[in-house]
Amino acid sequence: MDNSNFEDIIQFAIQREEDACRAYGEMSEIAETPGLKELLLELQAEEKKHKELLQGITSEDIGNLETHNVVDLKISDFLTEEPPTPDMSFQDLLIFAAKKEQQAVELYSSMKAAVNSDELKKMFDFFLEQEKEHKLKLEMEYEKYVLDEG
Ligand SMILES: [Fe+2]
Ligand SMILES: [Fe+2]
Repeated sequence: MDNSNFEDIIQFAIQREEDACRAYGEMSEIAETPGLKELLLELQAEEKKHKELLQGITSEDIGNLETHNVVDLKISDFLTEEPPTPDMSFQDLLIFAAKKEQQAVELYSSMKAAVNSDELKKMFDFFLEQEKEHKLKLEMEYEKYVLDEG
Protein backbone atom coordinates (compact mmCIF):
# COMPACT_ATOMS: atom_id res chain seq x y z
CA MET A 1 0.00 0.00 0.00
CA ASP A 2 1.36 3.44 -0.82
CA ASN A 3 1.33 6.38 1.52
CA SER A 4 -1.56 8.26 -0.06
CA ASN A 5 -3.73 5.18 0.42
CA PHE A 6 -2.71 4.94 4.04
CA GLU A 7 -3.52 8.61 4.55
CA ASP A 8 -6.95 8.18 2.93
CA ILE A 9 -7.79 5.22 5.14
CA ILE A 10 -6.76 7.06 8.29
CA GLN A 11 -8.67 10.18 7.25
CA PHE A 12 -11.77 8.12 6.64
CA ALA A 13 -11.49 6.47 10.05
CA ILE A 14 -10.96 9.87 11.71
CA GLN A 15 -14.11 11.10 10.01
CA ARG A 16 -16.09 8.13 11.31
CA GLU A 17 -14.80 8.67 14.84
CA GLU A 18 -15.82 12.31 14.61
CA ASP A 19 -19.31 11.26 13.52
CA ALA A 20 -19.52 8.81 16.43
CA CYS A 21 -18.43 11.54 18.81
CA ARG A 22 -21.11 13.90 17.52
CA ALA A 23 -23.79 11.18 17.65
CA TYR A 24 -23.03 10.46 21.32
CA GLY A 25 -23.21 14.18 22.04
CA GLU A 26 -26.70 14.29 20.52
CA MET A 27 -27.81 11.11 22.28
CA SER A 28 -26.56 12.39 25.62
CA GLU A 29 -28.75 15.48 25.16
CA ILE A 30 -31.78 13.23 24.68
CA ALA A 31 -30.96 10.88 27.57
CA GLU A 32 -32.68 11.86 30.78
CA THR A 33 -31.74 8.94 33.00
CA PRO A 34 -28.57 10.04 34.83
CA GLY A 35 -26.81 6.66 34.49
CA LEU A 36 -27.48 6.53 30.77
CA LYS A 37 -26.35 10.11 30.21
CA GLU A 38 -23.07 9.29 31.94
CA LEU A 39 -22.55 6.17 29.87
CA LEU A 40 -23.16 8.07 26.63
CA LEU A 41 -20.76 10.83 27.67
CA GLU A 42 -18.16 8.22 28.62
CA LEU A 43 -18.49 6.62 25.18
CA GLN A 44 -18.29 10.05 23.56
CA ALA A 45 -15.01 10.68 25.36
CA GLU A 46 -13.69 7.35 24.09
CA GLU A 47 -14.60 8.15 20.48
CA LYS A 48 -12.76 11.43 20.92
CA LYS A 49 -9.73 9.49 22.15
CA HIS A 50 -9.96 7.22 19.11
CA LYS A 51 -9.93 10.24 16.85
CA GLU A 52 -6.92 11.71 18.62
CA LEU A 53 -5.10 8.40 18.50
CA LEU A 54 -5.67 8.13 14.74
CA GLN A 55 -4.39 11.64 14.15
CA GLY A 56 -0.69 11.25 13.57
CA ILE A 57 -0.58 7.57 14.54
CA THR A 58 2.91 6.08 14.17
CA SER A 59 4.31 2.56 13.85
CA GLU A 60 5.47 2.85 17.42
CA ASP A 61 1.93 3.72 18.58
CA ILE A 62 0.57 0.70 16.73
CA GLY A 63 3.24 -1.48 18.30
CA ASN A 64 2.11 -0.34 21.74
CA LEU A 65 -1.60 -1.02 21.21
CA GLU A 66 -2.97 -3.78 23.43
CA THR A 67 -5.96 -5.58 21.99
CA HIS A 68 -8.32 -7.68 24.08
CA ASN A 69 -10.94 -9.94 22.59
CA VAL A 70 -14.38 -8.73 23.62
CA VAL A 71 -17.48 -10.90 23.73
CA ASP A 72 -20.51 -10.04 21.65
CA LEU A 73 -23.83 -10.51 23.47
CA LYS A 74 -25.68 -9.90 20.18
CA ILE A 75 -28.68 -8.56 22.09
CA SER A 76 -29.29 -5.63 19.76
CA ASP A 77 -28.69 -7.63 16.57
CA PHE A 78 -32.23 -8.95 16.56
CA LEU A 79 -33.96 -5.80 17.73
CA THR A 80 -35.30 -3.09 15.46
CA GLU A 81 -33.93 0.39 15.75
CA GLU A 82 -35.90 3.62 15.67
CA PRO A 83 -34.42 6.96 14.67
CA PRO A 84 -33.51 9.02 17.75
CA THR A 85 -36.17 11.47 18.94
CA PRO A 86 -36.40 13.57 22.10
CA ASP A 87 -39.16 11.35 23.49
CA MET A 88 -37.47 8.08 22.63
CA SER A 89 -37.38 5.42 25.32
CA PHE A 90 -34.33 4.38 27.29
CA GLN A 91 -34.31 1.00 25.51
CA ASP A 92 -34.63 2.48 22.02
CA LEU A 93 -31.73 4.80 22.67
CA LEU A 94 -29.56 1.89 23.79
CA ILE A 95 -30.53 -0.19 20.76
CA PHE A 96 -29.83 2.71 18.43
CA ALA A 97 -26.39 3.27 19.96
CA ALA A 98 -25.53 -0.46 20.03
CA LYS A 99 -26.41 -0.76 16.34
CA LYS A 100 -24.18 2.17 15.52
CA GLU A 101 -21.36 0.41 17.35
CA GLN A 102 -22.04 -2.76 15.39
CA GLN A 103 -21.64 -0.72 12.19
CA ALA A 104 -18.33 0.59 13.50
CA VAL A 105 -17.20 -2.98 14.27
CA GLU A 106 -18.12 -4.03 10.74
CA LEU A 107 -16.37 -1.04 9.21
CA TYR A 108 -13.11 -1.72 11.05
CA SER A 109 -13.40 -5.43 10.24
CA SER A 110 -13.70 -4.71 6.55
CA MET A 111 -10.81 -2.25 6.72
CA LYS A 112 -8.74 -4.91 8.44
CA ALA A 113 -9.61 -7.39 5.70
CA ALA A 114 -8.82 -4.87 2.96
CA VAL A 115 -5.26 -4.04 4.00
CA ASN A 116 -2.19 -6.18 3.43
CA SER A 117 0.12 -4.74 6.03
CA ASP A 118 0.27 -6.65 9.33
CA GLU A 119 0.75 -3.37 11.09
CA LEU A 120 -2.49 -1.90 9.76
CA LYS A 121 -4.30 -5.15 10.44
CA LYS A 122 -3.15 -4.88 14.04
CA MET A 123 -4.35 -1.30 14.24
CA PHE A 124 -7.81 -2.06 12.86
CA ASP A 125 -8.06 -5.07 15.13
CA PHE A 126 -7.49 -2.79 18.10
CA PHE A 127 -10.21 -0.37 16.98
CA LEU A 128 -12.73 -3.07 16.17
CA GLU A 129 -12.34 -4.62 19.63
CA GLN A 130 -12.75 -1.18 21.15
CA GLU A 131 -16.04 -0.71 19.31
CA LYS A 132 -17.10 -4.21 20.38
CA GLU A 133 -16.48 -3.13 23.94
CA HIS A 134 -18.72 -0.10 23.44
CA LYS A 135 -21.44 -2.35 22.08
CA LEU A 136 -21.02 -4.67 25.06
CA LYS A 137 -21.39 -1.79 27.54
CA LEU A 138 -24.58 -0.65 25.86
CA GLU A 139 -26.03 -4.15 25.69
CA MET A 140 -25.19 -4.81 29.33
CA GLU A 141 -27.03 -1.62 30.22
CA TYR A 142 -29.97 -2.77 28.13
CA GLU A 143 -29.96 -6.17 29.80
CA LYS A 144 -29.84 -4.57 33.24
CA TYR A 145 -32.82 -2.40 32.33
CA VAL A 146 -34.88 -5.28 30.99
CA LEU A 147 -34.11 -7.39 34.05
CA ASP A 148 -35.00 -4.50 36.39
CA GLU A 149 -38.29 -3.99 34.59
CA GLY A 150 -39.05 -7.69 34.39
FE1 LIG B 1 -14.45 4.67 18.03
FE1 LIG C 1 -17.61 3.22 19.64
